[in-house]
Amino acid sequence: MSDYTHVIDELGQNLRGRRIVLGVSGGIAAYKAAELTRALGRMGVDVHVVLTEAGARFVTPLTFQALSGNRAWSGFQDGEMEDGMPHITLGRGIDAILVAPASANFIARLAAGFANDLLSTLCLARDCPLFVAPAMNRQMWENPATRRNVALLQADGIIVLGPCVGEQACGETGPGRMLEPEALCKELTAFFTPKLLAGRKVMLTAGPTFEAIDPVRGITNSSSGKMGYALAAACARAGAEVVLVSGPVTLPVPAGVRCINATSALQMRDEVFAAMTGVDVFIAVAAVADYRPAESAVHKIKKSGAAIHLELVPNPDILAEVAALPEPPFCVGFAAESQELDAYAEAKRRAKRLPMLVGNLLGDGLGGDENTIVIYDEEGRHPLPRAPKTYLAQRIVERIACLLSTK
Ligand code: CTP
Repeated sequence: MSDYTHVIDELGQNLRGRRIVLGVSGGIAAYKAAELTRALGRMGVDVHVVLTEAGARFVTPLTFQALSGNRAWSGFQDGEMEDGMPHITLGRGIDAILVAPASANFIARLAAGFANDLLSTLCLARDCPLFVAPAMNRQMWENPATRRNVALLQADGIIVLGPCVGEQACGETGPGRMLEPEALCKELTAFFTPKLLAGRKVMLTAGPTFEAIDPVRGITNSSSGKMGYALAAACARAGAEVVLVSGPVTLPVPAGVRCINATSALQMRDEVFAAMTGVDVFIAVAAVADYRPAESAVHKIKKSGAAIHLELVPNPDILAEVAALPEPPFCVGFAAESQELDAYAEAKRRAKRLPMLVGNLLGDGLGGDENTIVIYDEEGRHPLPRAPKTYLAQRIVERIACLLSTK
């Protein structure tokens, strides 16, 4: 079973204490619902599992009971709660219903407004958001009847998560595979993240730059891009429109983020200014090379045995240029220093005229998943405890939103 510790650390705070009904309908992906129950439970969610009759044939209620710590329900069990109405009682005070897996049959019943078992009745009688994670054979998913039903669900405001494309239990490959439990946890978390940046456009730079010496060699640095990508994801979760101008990294583009690739500092600057219209917040996380070779050789430089001299010329400072615009966006800089963090970071913030700068000591965070940072702004320094970058990203977003609201 996967280790969800990092998901819990980075995102758990938005789900902690929520009460969620997890609906399980009939499909082989029901076994993943067991894993999902465990993951949600570990994130502090109070999970109440309700299975359809078909769902209970794949995994027993007992399994879910053991994993959730709550009574699991199946079929239509009126009369077993104190007031005899679990379809109403269970649905009160819950934050969301997630049906995973949602079979083609269950989706059809939902679309038609059926109330012929506990789960469908709960869905019909709900006053909370409803998510469905479809899981079925690709031909069932592509069938016009399913397409019609899914469109009806969406028109009714039901949030459809996935499915994804991949290998299916039947041996075929195509769309219809249920999203993995970790992805579903992330979707729920994103939904429950306060939309602090709604209506804002945020642009970020991330990763290293690569300054070519010849067609195969160049100057770069060991920035992994993890902090910038985590921050882009956090901004998207907070409801912002996000543009990420990224140097060469191997990270997946976060959901809801438009990514523009750039290699050198000059390309990065061009891409930043080309997409600058309407940007409210500019966050420069990229480790931009301060210098580039004066010339980049067209052909591969051959070895001669003699010393060679590389002339380096300064690159433009992208952040300083953006901050110097007549009407600059809210600019956030980053500074990784090897010593005297407070003095250097604050000096950098003032020199570039930034309302906010995030500093860290080299060695604390480069390349890893965690970091120790200090936020510097007009009100002073705000140190944060060592934590995963994804968690820190959310704290940075909160600080940006707070300063924006008082601007
Ligand atoms: N930055 C930038 N363009 C550059 C250099 C830096 O946009 N050519 C941005 C970085 O993305 C970061 C901030 O400026 O947000 C500080 O970068 P850093 O490299 O720490 O500082 P420098 O100003 O380059 O100073 P030094 O390298 O001397 O510490």
